[in-house]
Amino acid sequence: MRRAAVFLALLLCLLWTGAQGEDGGGTGKKEGEFDIQGAHDQSSSQTQMRTDLWAELKELRDMAIEHRIKIQRLEQDNTVLETRMSSSEKEVEEVKRENAATQVRLTASESKNSVLENRMSSSEKEVEELQRENADRPQVAFSAGLTDAGAVGPFTTDITLKYSKVFTNIGQAYSPTTGIFTAPVRGVYYFRFNAWENRSAETGVQLFHNNHKKMGLYDYNGGSGRVSTSNSMVLQLEKGDVVYIVLLSSYPVYDDSNNYIIFSGFLLFPQ
Ligand SMILES: *[C@@H]1O[C@H](CO)[C@@H](O)[C@H](O)[C@H]1NC(C)=O
Repeated sequence: MRRAAVFLALLLCLLWTGAQGEDGGGTGKKEGEFDIQGAHDQSSSQTQMRTDLWAELKELRDMAIEHRIKIQRLEQDNTVLETRMSSSEKEVEEVKRENAATQVRLTASESKNSVLENRMSSSEKEVEELQRENADRPQVAFSAGLTDAGAVGPFTTDITLKYSKVFTNIGQAYSPTTGIFTAPVRGVYYFRFNAWENRSAETGVQLFHNNHKKMGLYDYNGGSGRVSTSNSMVLQLEKGDVVYIVLLSSYPVYDDSNNYIIFSGFLLFPQ
């Protein structure tokens, strides 16, 4: 635009100078062939120059119009871009806010996670400890029937009953050859035993812990025929303590493949 204005000014200046020259030529010069020819040449070159200038001026005007149109378009584009930019900026702000909120929640989750992880790891430790304890815990359980031979007793002295039919003997704490249970660990044990008889009107056995009679088991039915009795005990035993059943002198018991008479025991828990 500025270039066009400068050019226009220059052009006007030239045109004005041209017009001046033409007027001066007409009045100042004498009549002559050479002069007429010279004036004619000058006039034709000036016309040519004017035509060129006009063409150039038109071209410049067209350029100016074109530029104005381009500028208008650019301004429109700019407005559109500004609008888009400002909406983008708003979106960015929103995303930033959301991010901040997410960050807060993330931090809370992380701290919660670490609490849970701590609890989990302490639980795992407890489980491992319990597993170790369980693995270390001795397994003790036995159950044995007296005999398939039928009548046992009566004898003239007390005898330790040898339950020879072993059904279960986890930990091998019960011996069928002696009839004695030996505690493999210090702990609390459960025992159960009974007496059964069908030839005599009475029967009697006793449970011993080491040398101490812990419990007597008697039955008498007042006549002839079957007598049956049973009981159980929970005992706290030291490692190596023994438990066994004694058949009292003069009392019989009876057992056969029906397994009327059974001695059982197991470790409730070690101590
Ligand atoms: C005792 O019981 C057994 C088994 O049931 C039987 O074989 C036996 O005859 C009975 N004895 C008496 C005296 O009843």
